[in-house]
Amino acid sequence: MRRYLIAGNWKMNKTNNEAVNLAKRIFSDSQGIEKVDIIICPPFTAIAPVYNVIKDSNIRLGAQNMFYENEGAYTGEISGEFLKSIGCEFVIIGHSERRKYFNETDVEVNKKVKKSMAFGLTPIVCVGETLEEREKGKTEEVVKREIVGALQGQTDMDKIIYAYEPIWAIGTGKTAHPEDANKIHKLIRDIIKTDFRIDETRILYGGSVKSSNAEALMSQPDIDGSLVGGASLDAKSFVEIIKAAANLS
Ligand code: 13P
Repeated sequence: MRRYLIAGNWKMNKTNNEAVNLAKRIFSDSQGIEKVDIIICPPFTAIAPVYNVIKDSNIRLGAQNMFYENEGAYTGEISGEFLKSIGCEFVIIGHSERRKYFNETDVEVNKKVKKSMAFGLTPIVCVGETLEEREKGKTEEVVKREIVGALQGQTDMDKIIYAYEPIWAIGTGKTAHPEDANKIHKLIRDIIKTDFRIDETRILYGGSVKSSNAEALMSQPDIDGSLVGGASLDAKSFVEIIKAAANLS
C-alpha cells in the first residue's frame, strides 16, 4: 500500500523569518497526523533555519534544485552534499519552471537525478506538458520522453518519486480533471513498470492543488499525493491538503 505524500514547493518565496514562522505553523497544525508523509521545500537560504524547527517532527525537508557536479568552480550552484549536510532528504529535479526559465534539458535532469541519489537524496522528478503540447495531443509523448530521459542509466530507481505537473495547471487556478490526471499517472506507472521494472512508485500530482480539489484528485487510484505550490505558502491551506490525504488513508 503506497502512503500518501504531500510536498510543499515554496518556490522563490519566504525570507528566513517568514519561512521559520510558516514551518512552525505547519508543524503545530499537522501534529498527530501520522498516516501521511509530509515534505516542505523552502528556498536554499531557509533550509537550515527551517531544519531547526522541524527536526524532531515527522515533517521532512527537500530542496528545489541542485547541481550535478560534486564541487568546484560552478559559481552560484549548490551541491547534493551541501543539501544533505543541512538536513535535506529530498530534492525536486526538473521542475517545469527550471526547464522553462533556466533551459534545463532532459540530459541535465538525468545527471541531477543520478547525482542526487549518489548523495543519498531522494529525487522528486517533475514531468508535464505545456498547453500547446496538450492541444496538439502530445501529452503522452512528452511525459514519456521526460520520464525515460530522467531514468536512462539510473540504478536504485525504486526510491525515485515522480510529480506529474501539467504546465498549464501551474499557478493558473486550472486543475487537470482528476480522471484525466489519473490517466497520465497510470501511463507513468506503466512506463516505470514495463521499461524499468519498478513496481511500487509514488506519483504526485501538481498544478493548482488546493484544499477544495485535493480530495477529488487524490482519491484517484494512481494519484499518491500532491506537489503543492501556492497553497503550501499558507499553513492552514497546506495542512488542509494534508488532512484530505489523511482522510483517504
Ligand atoms: P501551484 O500549486 O502554485 O500551481 O504550483 C504547482 C507547482 O509547480 C508545484 O511544484
